[in-house]
Amino acid sequence: MSEPTERVSGEGHEVPERLSSAGHEVPERINSAGRELAALTDAHVVHRARSGGLFTRDRVYALTGAAFRIAPGETVGVVGESGCGKSTLAKVLVGVQRPTSGTVSFRGRDLWAMKPAERRATVGRGTGMVFQDPSTALNRRLPVRQILRDPLDVHRRGTPTERDDRVRELMSLVGLPGALADALPGQLSGGQRQRVAIARALALDPDLVVADEPTSALDVSVRAQILNLLLDLKERLGLALVFVSHDIQTVRRMSDRVITMYLGRIVEESPADEVTERARHPYTRALFSATPGLLDPIDPIPLVGPVPSATRPPSGCPFRTRCWKADDVCAEVMPDVAAASTPGHRFRCHHPVEEGRPTRELVAQAAASAPPEATAMADVPVPDVRKEPREHP
Ligand SMILES: Nc1ncnc2c1ncn2[C@@H]1O[C@H](COP(=O)(O)OP(=O)(O)OP(=O)(O)O)[C@@H](O)[C@H]1O
Ligand code: SF4
Ligand SMILES: [Mg+2]
Repeated sequence: MSEPTERVSGEGHEVPERLSSAGHEVPERINSAGRELAALTDAHVVHRARSGGLFTRDRVYALTGAAFRIAPGETVGVVGESGCGKSTLAKVLVGVQRPTSGTVSFRGRDLWAMKPAERRATVGRGTGMVFQDPSTALNRRLPVRQILRDPLDVHRRGTPTERDDRVRELMSLVGLPGALADALPGQLSGGQRQRVAIARALALDPDLVVADEPTSALDVSVRAQILNLLLDLKERLGLALVFVSHDIQTVRRMSDRVITMYLGRIVEESPADEVTERARHPYTRALFSATPGLLDPIDPIPLVGPVPSATRPPSGCPFRTRCWKADDVCAEVMPDVAAASTPGHRFRCHHPVEEGRPTRELVAQAAASAPPEATAMADVPVPDVRKEPREHP
């Protein structure tokens, strides 16, 4: 179990230092036999878009070759630009979305080899998901009491009286006054709605909660409250948490480990307290340089060109069209997990950032190799192929 974490006291980058437990313990916990809670092995998700020719519709490579594991009680943050596959990874992990190929296991058992009823029971009881926008995630016609009671009814948990008790317990767990039990979602504030969504995710006592941008649709003033609630619950209930957010500094502070994704691939997995200055993948360094801490502001690492389309990922390393270290090998060969990786810090790069190289020096290095039109990451427009008409595979 993680050590107690500090509470989040402001939104965004004002979050105080170190909310997570000692990151270095993670590899051992992950590797220790029997401690794995959920895992993806070589998971791919390929969608077919409506764009392209009549018989050759474009493929969208939403997730490619993902290998991911999470241990009980661990918090893993997922970062990357819009469209890089964060939500896809999250949905595949909790069995909401079936991967096109690869395996998803929960407590060592292959989810998609189970019969549908068993899979639904395993996923329903073992995992909970909190989505970005509570106003669309909750049934607007049902009062809070019924929203929380639903999963208990579906999974036949306890007697009717015990279910009523559980609803009350859940409301108090997430700090919702009992008087709101008969309120409809539309009568609640955004923060209250997200509390209901969190309570619903916890209804069946899951071991794993996946929170996909749980605060980005909320008012800035309530974001810290919801983050604190998630952290409190994680510790009180011993939950494993996968936390997806664009607010990468908050992700870093909340997590034990941080996963960086780029164009559908996991390109680095690093202990959270090493990710800012000791990450080895150029993209992770560029990403974190774009939102530096307040104490030591620096210019972001400049990158060249837009994010390529997920329908036509570049040959070789997907980051090579923007990477200041790219060469011919990068254009030809997809990097394997680098030999210099350790069990707790893995990265895929032919020419990783030298160990201990400060970000300031990388800014200068990238600027020296960049043409004048190079832009900082935050300024780069990100194409979103979801705007194209599409359908499920
Ligand atoms: N049903 C679908 N059909 C076609 N393409 C899809 C579908 N769902 C997702 N995609 C595409 O898959 C890629 C990954 O999408 P995903 O939603 O996982 O990204 P994300 O990192 O969560 O983005 P954001 O930060 O904007 O939420 C994107 O290119 C997206 O357009
Ligand atoms: S493999 Fe090459 S292009 Fe990809 S991140 Fe490493 S140096 Fe850059
Ligand atoms: Mg998403």
